[in-house]
Formats: sequence, structure tokens, C-alpha cells
Amino acid sequence: MLQKNTAIERYIEQHTTQEDHLLAELNRQTHLHVLQPRMVSGHIQGKILEMISYMIKPKFILEIGTFTGYSAICLAKGLTDDGCLHTFEINDELEELASDFIERSGYTNKIVQHVGSALKLAPNLNLKFDLIFIDGDKREYPEYYKMAKELITDEGFILADNVLWDGKVIETPTPTDLYTQQILKFNQMVQDDPDVENVIVPFRDGMTFIKMKRKK
Ligand SMILES: C[S@@+](CC[C@H](N)C(=O)[O-])C[C@H]1O[C@@H](n2cnc3c(N)ncnc32)[C@H](O)[C@@H]1O
Repeated sequence: MLQKNTAIERYIEQHTTQEDHLLAELNRQTHLHVLQPRMVSGHIQGKILEMISYMIKPKFILEIGTFTGYSAICLAKGLTDDGCLHTFEINDELEELASDFIERSGYTNKIVQHVGSALKLAPNLNLKFDLIFIDGDKREYPEYYKMAKELITDEGFILADNVLWDGKVIETPTPTDLYTQQILKFNQMVQDDPDVENVIVPFRDGMTFIKMKRKK
């Protein structure tokens, strides 16, 4: 099965628009210089985020978890001409690498990098967002969701990455496994929320698409 999955992944890569040179370099630099490089969105997920952003055409995007800037650059592509993406990263050691690539991407005027916790800082922007990408600390997902509900526009979409958590969501988490516990809590919060429609899309580590229900 593993072999087949790898072959399918290769097939998908070969039948998806090539990763552009800058993003490929960012992917490489992330793997060379940063701890836990697996966290980077990468080619396929990056393309999916880019497509979603093109479809929504958001004016304001909020991203929780810049990491090295890969997903921020992908999401920024679909912004309206006067749009802006605010991305938050708590680890200040990542700022330089991310800002270097954001500058080279040509999106400096559309991507605002913030260093610090999104939970503390994002509400201070006093903005409503058309698209919110939740991709920070898995233990904080329930808190991100509460905040996202406050900051999303009525017609907005929330995306949350890693919601299958390497398949651990169908196992009983150990008492010390806060990551799985909080992902499970988040998934249930979303499922029980009468204000939204939601679907888990099973690519990579699972991504939930959440749409605010239209007010009648
Ligand atoms: C999975 S990585 C993000 C990957 C990136 N979005 C991408 O797709 O390339 C998660 C990042 O969230 C950051 N983070 C954790 N807690 C945070 C918080 N409260 N606010 C902002 N960033 C946070 C971590 O330091 C880490 O760099």
C-alpha cells in the first residue's frame, strides 16, 4: 500500500503545474536550514492553497503559522489587487528566511509579517478576513477556531491544516498527547458548530474547509 501511495504521489506531482523556481528554492532551503522541515506546505498543498485563494479572491487573509513563508506566498497570489495577507509566526528565528523569500516573490506590498502569537496580536488589527488559514500549534487549534469565528467575514472561509494528525484522530490519545487531544477537540467543535458547513479533505495530513452559513 505504501509503495502504491508513493507512486500515486509521484503521479500527482507529475500531473500538476510545476513548482515555480522560487518556491522550489524555498522548499529546499527549508529542508536544509530549518528544524522540522516537513511542516512546509510544499508543491501540491501550495498549489491547492493558491487555487483556493484564486477562487475566493479574498481582500484580507489571515494566516496563523508563517513558518518559512511558503503558504503565505501561495495564498497571496489570489488576493484582490488592493488585498493584503497578514501572517503570524511565534518563532522569531524564522523571520529572516521568510522575509527574504517574501521579498523575492514580489509580494512585499501584499504580505505583512507579524512576529508573535496570532492569538494575542491578530485581534488588534481590527480587520475582518475573507480567508483564514489555521496552521499554527496544534494544541491551540480550539483557541484559533474561537478567534477565527470572531474575525471571519459573513461570507468567509476558514481552512485548517493537519486535522487528521497522521491518522491519530481515529485512535485514543494518551493522557499526555495534547496535540491529538486538541485536534480532536477542534474537529468536534467544528462539527458541532451550527454556524458553519465543513468538510475534511483527505490530502496530505487532512485539511478542513469551513464555510460560514449564509445569514437568511
Ligand atoms: C506547520 S508550521 C506552518 C507552515 C506554513 N504555514 C507552511 O505551510 O509552509 C506551524 C508554525 O506555526 C508557528 N506557531 C505556533 N504557535 C503559533 C502562534 N500562536 N501564533 C503564530 N504562529 C505560531 C510555529 O512556530 C510554526 O512555525
